[in-house]
Amino acid sequence: MAVERTLSIIKPDATKRNLTGKINQKFEDNGLRIVAQKRIQLTEDQAKKFYAVHAERPFYKDLVSFMISGPVVVQVLEGDDAVAQNRKIMGATNPAEADEGTIRAEFAENIEANSVHGSDSAENAAIEVSFFFSENEIVG
Ligand code: CMP
Repeated sequence: MAVERTLSIIKPDATKRNLTGKINQKFEDNGLRIVAQKRIQLTEDQAKKFYAVHAERPFYKDLVSFMISGPVVVQVLEGDDAVAQNRKIMGATNPAEADEGTIRAEFAENIEANSVHGSDSAENAAIEVSFFFSENEIVG
């Protein structure tokens, strides 16, 4: 198993409900290390750019509004198979379909306000990590 890094975002629905610590506990309990982390307010421009792959989807506009509706915590998670492992810890995009014990099953409000984002491939992880962090901000 290769040690990987993945980009995680704790979304505004979760930061508003003060769930950052509980969500971080899930990552740490399941073998991922938080090797970079910052709490920021995304600008509309940043949110649009970050989710540009979804620009043609019907939910894009609402998604951008939601992601700028409050602070987010952006983080780099590191560990064995971190991309896949984080997706397991998060659970399905739609909380109604998420396995018991996953972050989205426990904390998400709906398919949009689903508490966390995680990169979907190693290739996208590298792009998404560099969207928010420079190499010297990541300390493994
Ligand atoms: P995320 O993993 O951040 O990637 C895209 C986001 O779009 C997704 O989580 C959801 O928050 C949001 N979204 C809203 N509606 C949908 C939908 N119908 N299908 C997929 N993602 C959606």
